[in-house]
Formats: sequence, structure tokens, C-alpha cells
Amino acid sequence: MLLLSAIPLLAILSVARALPPPRPGTPAFVRPRPSIPHLEAPSEELPVVSRNGTQLPAYTKTYYFNQLIDHNNPSLGTFRQQYWHTYEFYEPGGPIILSTPGEVDASGYTSYLTNSTLNGRIAQQLNGSTIVLEHRFFGNSNPYPDLSVQSFRVHTVQQAINDLAYFAQNVQLPMQGGDKVAPGKAPWILIGGSYAGALTSYAMKNKSDVFYAGYASSAVVQATVDFWGYFEPIRQSMPANCSADVQAVIAHVDSVLASNDSSQINTLKSTFGLQGLSHNDDFAAALQQNFFTWQNLQLDSGPNGDFFKFCDALEVKNGVSAPASGWGLDYALQAWGSFWKNTFYEQICGSDENDLCLGTYDSTNPYWSYTYAPNAGRSWQWLTCNEFGFNFDGAAASQPTIASRFVKAVWSERQCGYHFPGAFGSNSVVASPNAVGLNNLYQGWNTTAQRLIFANGIRDPWREATVAADGTTNAGSDMQPHLLSDGFHCSDLLVREGVASAKVKSVQDSAVSYMAKWIAEWKPTA
Ligand SMILES: *[C@@H]1O[C@H](CO)[C@@H](O)[C@H](O)[C@H]1NC(C)=O
Ligand SMILES: *[C@@H]1O[C@H](CO)[C@@H](O)[C@H](O)[C@H]1NC(C)=O
Ligand SMILES: *[C@@H]1O[C@H](CO)[C@@H](O)[C@H](O)[C@H]1NC(C)=O
Ligand SMILES: *[C@@H]1O[C@H](CO)[C@@H](O)[C@H](O)[C@H]1NC(C)=O
Ligand SMILES: *[C@@H]1O[C@H](CO)[C@@H](O)[C@H](O)[C@H]1NC(C)=O
Ligand SMILES: *[C@@H]1O[C@H](CO)[C@@H](O)[C@H](O)[C@H]1NC(C)=O
Ligand SMILES: *[C@@H]1O[C@H](CO)[C@@H](O)[C@H](O)[C@H]1NC(C)=O
Repeated sequence: MLLLSAIPLLAILSVARALPPPRPGTPAFVRPRPSIPHLEAPSEELPVVSRNGTQLPAYTKTYYFNQLIDHNNPSLGTFRQQYWHTYEFYEPGGPIILSTPGEVDASGYTSYLTNSTLNGRIAQQLNGSTIVLEHRFFGNSNPYPDLSVQSFRVHTVQQAINDLAYFAQNVQLPMQGGDKVAPGKAPWILIGGSYAGALTSYAMKNKSDVFYAGYASSAVVQATVDFWGYFEPIRQSMPANCSADVQAVIAHVDSVLASNDSSQINTLKSTFGLQGLSHNDDFAAALQQNFFTWQNLQLDSGPNGDFFKFCDALEVKNGVSAPASGWGLDYALQAWGSFWKNTFYEQICGSDENDLCLGTYDSTNPYWSYTYAPNAGRSWQWLTCNEFGFNFDGAAASQPTIASRFVKAVWSERQCGYHFPGAFGSNSVVASPNAVGLNNLYQGWNTTAQRLIFANGIRDPWREATVAADGTTNAGSDMQPHLLSDGFHCSDLLVREGVASAKVKSVQDSAVSYMAKWIAEWKPTA
């Protein structure tokens, strides 16, 4: 009897240990995340040496911290949160510089320990130590083994803020004196970009007793459900001819879709080779794809980026570029359509047919229900579905737009329902993110946090969610400097972007001087 019952138990154990099934591919319709730039990992061959010549552990050495699973209920225990650390430039009395790369597998972001980033530059200047901490539910830092709705109960912005604070208060850093640098004994600086920039701002407000100073780059502090603003810096900064022509084509697309004339609509879709897309809003959303390549641009990325190839396809006719006003609707529509048919469709869809690649209405797509960790896309979706919104839709009728107004927030919120069935209340199959609640709690772009530097780039597609948005009234102060460059997304975090642009360099230099001044004024409280 005992033996018999042991067999199914063993079978269950071996199932539990089996490798997860292969992850379904990420469909082409998935929107980009607000992430910091990825940098080449530091070479493992070059030893890390401290100022006195002692060889230190490699930047890529992984450390583990026992983090609380649920800050509201510590009795649930802890999980292993990964971090990376160096004391290359550290001298006793220097700041401890904590950073999370946010919604990514952080093992690829150890460059943010080094002086190729602003983090390392500040460390080098101020005798600091740098830390890269993986965000819960990303990479290998998972409170629970899967990414189910049940596990995501502890996947909230507030838990992530609490992680940063609890880490600072409890970690024993693997260096001499690493147990004597808790907040109060040493000044802690928090640095983050993009989503993690927002976390930095929120934590500076919510945990001002833990973090003494902060630097938030391209920080998407203002949660926004209808985030048509994503396309606004692109519309303003892209080549004028391309912007004018894209706006003309989109106005035409919207008037055809509004006509309900199915033969006109089919003709329009086939201009782009998208006649197989069943839903009109999927077609309208597909046309946003050409703008997402803007987020990959940096000041030193040159004229051959994918975004410029798109504009060249619309604007260069027989070797001649259009004037600033563009070529006009007729030519631009045919040229944009040909670009999709001849080049772009295959790039993003391979040989998949239209609805399989760009259709969002198949709730049985295995992409939605795959809950194995890690899966950064899924973990980020949860935060947008519940808290941030950031649905990329068309602008209101009163505003010019490069994105079709036929894409509404519900286009994304419906996908939340497929991803996380049952999560949004028994009567709701679509999400309604509580962006207002988030902005009330952490003050969005009106934050009153002190000793917090905001740095933004005028060409950053996420700028309308930052303190540098067109309509903000918070101008900053000496205790909350707002610095602006000609950069793109998080450009100022990278030292090499300061080489490419004098304005980025000046943002970086000011940031280092503010930090130097504040750190000089710091006094121990413990
Ligand atoms: C050299 O630097 C390392 C790292 O900061 C430190 O642990 C060590 O004590 C230093 N050695 C001397 C002789 O100063
Ligand atoms: C980084 O620091 C090293 C010295 O440790 C220096 O040789 C190098 O020039 C610095 N790099 C940058 C980008 O500041
Ligand atoms: C950094 O440490 C060195 C050596 O202890 C010291 O001379 C220097 O003043 C320190 N710099 C700052 C900004 O504290
Ligand atoms: C931080 O946020 C929590 C949760 O919303 C709230 O209860 C607490 O009062 C906040 N603390 C501060 C200092 O803002
Ligand atoms: C097209 O259909 C929509 C939804 O059925 C309707 O609201 C709209 O008035 C129609 N437009 C025209 C021009 O018939
Ligand atoms: C027109 O388009 C071309 C090709 O993309 C671009 O190089 C040029 O800068 C644009 N000119 C204007 C005035 O927008
Ligand atoms: C920020 O402040 C402005 C003006 O003081 C106000 O109009 C706006 O509603 C505030 N925004 C938020 C998100 O609190």
C-alpha cells in the first residue's frame, strides 16, 4: 500500500521538475516596453581592480538577497532576489548607488555597474559603490515559480518600491565594511531610467527616509490610460516631410474606416498587403508598427536606423527627397503600402498570414496563457493592465496624429483580459488600469520629492509621461532639478551619448555636481 502510493507521488515530482514547454513566440502586435538601453556586457577578461590595485570580483558575479515575498505579510517568507555589485571606486564614507533596470532580465545589465554609465561615473567621482538589483518577477527573481494571476497578487508598484527600501535596509554588501552602510550610516542614491525612473521618483517620495538622493532618467512618472502622447515626440521630431505625409495617410485611413464601406476598406488594406486582417482596429494598430523603431534610436545610432529607412521609402522618389510638406497623400499612400508589401511585412511577420501575425482577437493564442517564468513581456503587461495603462492609441480629434484614431485604449485592455482571465472582476473581461490612483499615491509629474534629479530627452517617445511633457506645470527647483537634452530614451544614462551630444554631456555634468553637493551635505542619522 505504501509503495503503491509512493509511485504517483514520484510521478508528480518528476513532472514538477520537467522543463517548461517551449515558450510561444511573441506576436508582432505586442507594443514596446519603457526600458533602459541595453549595453554590451563588460568583458569578463578585463579584471576589475580597485583604486589600490586589488583585484575584485567580476561585474558579472551574481549575489542573492532574501527579499520578502509580500511586504504586507512578512510571514509568507522570502524569495531569492538577484543582484550585482562592485566596490571598484568605493572609499569609506562614499554613497551606495542602487539601481534596478526595471522590467528586464537584469543579468544583461551589469554594465550599469561601470563607468560607461552615469551610475559608475557618479561612483567614480564620489567614491561610491554601485549595485544593480533585479526587479521582482523578472529574470530569476521570482517570488513564486509561475506568472499566474494568483502569483501576481504580489506584483505591484508598491511591492517593488518596498523591495528597494527593504534591500537597502537589510543587505550586507559583499565588501569590507559592507555591513556598516545601511541608510542613515551611509548616503544611498537611487538611480533609474524609464519605468525604473518612475519607481525612483515614487520611492524618493514614499521612502524619503531611506533614499537620500535620486536620479530619474526618462522617468514615466505620470501613469496614463490613453497614451497617444507616445507618438507626439515622434511626430514633432521626425523628418518634417515624413511627418506631414504620415499624417495625411492616417487621416485618409481614418476616413475610409469611418465610411463603413467594405469594398473601400478592403482596397485600403490590400494597399499594405493586409487584406487578410479581419478586424479594422488590428489594421489601424498594425500601422503603428513603423513608429516603434523610433525607440531604438540614440544620438550616435546614425542615419541607417530602421526608422529612417521607413521615411526614406516614403520621401525619396527617383533619388530626390520631398520638400518639408511631403509628396502628398497619393504618392505617400502607395509608397507606404509598397514598403509594407516589399520589405516590412516579412521583417515582422516572416511567412505568417495576416491574422496570425497581427490579429489580436484569437483568445486561444498560446501566447496569452503561457505562465512559465521568466517572461518579461507578461510581467510588464500585468503592470500596464492594472496600474500604468500606457495604451498606445490615436489622439483625440482636436489633435494632429500619426497614429490612427481607430485604435482605442480598449484594443489593449481587451488583450489584458486574454492574458489574465478572472483578474479584473467577475463582470469584466477587459482591464481598467487605476492610473489615477497611482498618480494620486506618488504624485505623477507633480511630485514634491526632494534631492531628485529628472533628466529627459526632447526626442524621447515616452516624454509625454515624464515631467518634461508638453502640458506640465511643474518646472522643478534647485532641490528637484529638471534637466533636458536633445536626447532620445534614457540617453543621459550612457556616457557615450554625452560624447555624441554636448547637451547630454551638460545634463550628465550637472547631475554629477548636484550629487556632489548633496552628498557633501549629508550627515549620518544612525
Ligand atoms: C585595497 O582596496 C580594497 C578594496 O577597496 C580594500 O578591501 C583593501 O583593504 C585595500 N587594501 C589596502 C592595503 O589599502
Ligand atoms: C573609467 O575608469 C577608468 C579608470 O578606472 C578610466 O581609465 C576610464 O577612462 C574611465 N572611463 C570613462 C568612460 O570615464
Ligand atoms: C574620495 O576618497 C579619497 C581618498 O580617501 C579622498 O581623498 C577624496 O576626498 C574622496 N572624495 C570625495 C568626493 O569624498
Ligand atoms: C507609502 O505608500 C504606502 C502605500 O500606499 C502608504 O501607506 C504610506 O503612507 C506611504 N508613505 C509615505 C511616507 O508616503
Ligand atoms: C459606421 O458604423 C459605425 C458602427 O456601426 C456607426 O457608429 C457609424 O455611424 C457608421 N458610419 C457611417 C458613415 O455610416
Ligand atoms: C525629407 O525626407 C528625407 C528622406 O527621409 C530626409 O532625409 C530629409 O531630411 C527630409 N527633409 C525634410 C525637410 O523633412
Ligand atoms: C498637477 O498640478 C497641476 C497644476 O498645479 C494640476 O492642474 C494637475 O491636475 C496636477 N496633476 C496631477 C496628476 O496631480
